[in-house]
Amino acid sequence: MSRTYVPRLDDALVAEAARQTHVIWSGGRSVDAHIEAQRAQLRRAGPAILRYTGLLDDAGRLVAGIKRYGLSVSVPGGGKAPGVGIGAVFTRPDARGTGAASELLRAVLDEARADGVALALLYSDIDPGFYERLGFVALPALEHAADASALPTETSLDVRPSTPEDERFMLDAYDVSWDPSFVRPARTLEILRYFRFRNHGDLGWILRRDGRDVGYALAALHDGKRDDGAEPPPRTLWVDEWAAPGIPRDDVLGALRKIALAEGAANVASWLPPHLEGEPFVTRNRPTAIAMALALGGGISMIDPGKTFFGSLDHF
Ligand SMILES: CC(C)(COP(=O)(O)OP(=O)(O)OC[C@H]1O[C@@H](n2cnc3c(N)ncnc32)[C@H](O)[C@@H]1OP(=O)(O)O)[C@@H](O)C(=O)NCCC(=O)NCCS
Repeated sequence: MSRTYVPRLDDALVAEAARQTHVIWSGGRSVDAHIEAQRAQLRRAGPAILRYTGLLDDAGRLVAGIKRYGLSVSVPGGGKAPGVGIGAVFTRPDARGTGAASELLRAVLDEARADGVALALLYSDIDPGFYERLGFVALPALEHAADASALPTETSLDVRPSTPEDERFMLDAYDVSWDPSFVRPARTLEILRYFRFRNHGDLGWILRRDGRDVGYALAALHDGKRDDGAEPPPRTLWVDEWAAPGIPRDDVLGALRKIALAEGAANVASWLPPHLEGEPFVTRNRPTAIAMALALGGGISMIDPGKTFFGSLDHF
């Protein structure tokens, strides 16, 4: 039986994909609510940032589906290139083991290469060997956690909730905070907004010193509804990321303590990039949501796991 790759599923097939994936990724929602949540994501993102792709059988039925994200990534040494994110890889149970998911993944990757995309990214919840067979490389998958009371009590920083007007500043601070030799997300305003919506990271905090904005943190109580694989203890302040160029780490940690206090959080947890890891955070390997990347050319020739980082805000 032949199968056809469809780069963008129509609404009926999106609903079918959501009916199939409900068993795993519903987060406790009803089937209808899960279908509506997919539609809401697609509407909010627009096709440049998110579309559903799939493989159809001869009868036009959906065999396998993938959520395909249009991302932007930094290229070592400076510059940006298009990236593709792969999420919700799923094969209809009765068609499993017949090569459908691999075929669909190859179709999405071939299409991306033809479009000049430099890197493919996914977060694996299964044995990474499946994706390694397609060339993906697993990146370090660490989670860092601390008692809020272990963070410094002294800080030169104040915090205030962010507003939409702060988003440009956040993008700039994020860009400046990175070592240019790293491959990491390169955000546009649209991508930042979509992923804040997607990952419930709606709480932004501006870090201030002497009345000036010097950085930001995206941090909110983990309400258990995020599908990032994390199972933090109750009342955990989940820190998606922070960037405060030129500000000592301890000052930022002191600001996080203030935010934790304001939010009533007893614990703080994050997927920190390598340059921000360390005391007082305790590190453990994440069993799921293992970031994996594949170089597709166009400015990125190979993946160096020590120099490639995608954080929890970018998780899909
Ligand atoms: C994982 C999944 C997409 C594979 O789809 P598929 O169409 O059967 O994949 P293929 O036929 O291309 O490849 C099959 C191979 O995938 C591998 N595989 C299947 N499930 C796997 C799992 N949970 N962990 C690791 N590898 C797995 C096996 O090596 C299998 O080979 P086998 O049939 O000889 O045992 C499918 O099992 C599925 O939909 N699972 C539920 C959703 C899911 O977990 N998706 C992955 C999210 S990261």
